[in-house]
Amino acid sequence: MCGIVGYIGNADGVDYVLEGLKELEYRGYDSAGIACINKDQDPFLLKEVGRITNLEKSLKKQKISSSLVIGHTRWATHGKPTKNNSHPHYNNSKTIYVVHNGIIENYLDIKKELIDKGYSFYSETDTEVIPNLIDYYYAKTKDFKKAIKLALGDLRGTYALLIASSLLKDKLYLTRLGSPLVAGFAKDYIVVASDQNVILKHTQKVTYLEDFDLAEISGNKIKIENLKTLKVYDPKIEILDFNLKEDSLNDFPDYMLKEIFDIPETIRLATKGRIDPKKGLVKLGGLDNVMSQLEHIDRIIIVACGTSYYAGMFGEYLIEEISDIPVEVVLASEFKYKKEPISRSTCVIAISQSGETADTIAALEKVKDFGVLKLGIVNVIGSTISRITDAGVYCHAGTEKAVASTKAFVSQVVILTLMSLRLKNVSNKQSKQILKEIENLPSKIEELLSKKNEIKKLSQKYSKYKDFLFIGRGYDYPTALEGALKLKEVSYIHAEGYAAGEMKHGPLAMIDQNFPTVAVIGDEVLYEKTFSNIEEIRARKGPVLLVSSTLNKKTKNMVDDVFYLPKSSNHIGSILAAVFLQLFAYYVSKDLGFNVDRPRNLAKSVTVE
Ligand code: G6P
Repeated sequence: MCGIVGYIGNADGVDYVLEGLKELEYRGYDSAGIACINKDQDPFLLKEVGRITNLEKSLKKQKISSSLVIGHTRWATHGKPTKNNSHPHYNNSKTIYVVHNGIIENYLDIKKELIDKGYSFYSETDTEVIPNLIDYYYAKTKDFKKAIKLALGDLRGTYALLIASSLLKDKLYLTRLGSPLVAGFAKDYIVVASDQNVILKHTQKVTYLEDFDLAEISGNKIKIENLKTLKVYDPKIEILDFNLKEDSLNDFPDYMLKEIFDIPETIRLATKGRIDPKKGLVKLGGLDNVMSQLEHIDRIIIVACGTSYYAGMFGEYLIEEISDIPVEVVLASEFKYKKEPISRSTCVIAISQSGETADTIAALEKVKDFGVLKLGIVNVIGSTISRITDAGVYCHAGTEKAVASTKAFVSQVVILTLMSLRLKNVSNKQSKQILKEIENLPSKIEELLSKKNEIKKLSQKYSKYKDFLFIGRGYDYPTALEGALKLKEVSYIHAEGYAAGEMKHGPLAMIDQNFPTVAVIGDEVLYEKTFSNIEEIRARKGPVLLVSSTLNKKTKNMVDDVFYLPKSSNHIGSILAAVFLQLFAYYVSKDLGFNVDRPRNLAKSVTVE
């Protein structure tokens, strides 16, 4: 989704901002732009629809350099992806420039008031009211900072904002409410961005803005005032003690395929130093400080969105089976509006690859004052969710660039397995067996990936269909839901996930020879039960692709196609099936000729509710 990058220093920041915007490309966007405030010239503004390379090409023709630059990648919310709607936005007299992540909910009211006062608007965006509102207050107060504060006081919604102006050519203002913003201190300049990955290319010295902070950067100094507490404070400098891993494509044609092939290594990293299969015990350093609190927990609520939500469902089955604690999984977007009693002995676990999903953050905000323990299962180190939770476990899946989540999902499920065992904290036959299986999982996934050509052939056979059902029971149920989501996301084919036992309560009505079902049986124990559902589908002429860890000669000929997963036990077969379904969706999308890494209308990091 939208991304922000800014530069203030003594040298030329245009290339830095451009590079930063490229770093944010994977999050999804449809237009990009930059504004430069120059000491002895009028401000320079350039915006282009489409890829950043379009912006780059136009910029090269202009030969622009500037020591104060703000840039933005826009993912359309208010208004179509056009040049006019893209950021930066400016006031009527073209003196104030703003880039904005988030949504201003009352922009229509503000816009009307400003129009009544004589202001005009060129875009359909909510953002355009901001520079004009600052302009309005500046005309009244002649104090730019005061004008920003008064304008912010009128806004309702969420924002991360960079504000630059030709009225104050050596100052950059930044502020946030519910949307991340981080400033990095390099030797001779300061770079600001909505994503720390941009900063890490320049420096490891950073400060994260908190909600209501208004920062003023001038030269290499930053002054922060919190507009809620009214306290002025020096930035709290943190050192990011990790480096960005090389995440180039190597020989892979797309990130989605590369990331699926990263999975074995991802699991090795997620379990390194954390599991002892011989003893049947798990060590999760991130939970050590809250273990005494966790011992008194009698209810767990998992909140998450999209793929992370399905990992959460997997977690519900795991935690209830292994640690005997009742678990509810709630879509973060629903949790916020759900009125329910929550006691202090509840633990809320937020699962998020990016750690920046607005709905998941809002769910955590909701329970902020309830005195409950908040845990995070997050991939991006230092992200908002990792900072607003009491403790947590990192997934260590590395950067995930393709919009459709693959390796992060597997890593989340593996972490949830470890967490379940850690909550129980008992060394027994079950814990030893599960950990042995987790230890062997990377090689089983490698075995599965070696059959990619077989999976590709199957995908090509099925890519002609317009509708799909994915079914499974037990752990195979969240896997089926995730398989359907993967296919929808990257191939735009209608796909629904269902609990296999629910077929006869509705979905069976849709089945005919044009409506195939992908049936998942990763768990041998459920083979016969799920196979009965398959027979019901076959009786209605529905094509069936069976994904199974059980070799069964009798049933082989009763389905149209079958893919055998490497042999496993417990819930491991369902994880293997999830990897098969990721590859299946990938090859269907490729067969249909789509951009698999950047599916239409979707964004990697959804920073608006
Ligand atoms: C977006 C992405 C999905 C992801 C979801 C939740 O919709 O396209 O792939 O599963 O957000 O993201 P999170 O970062 O919170 O896991």
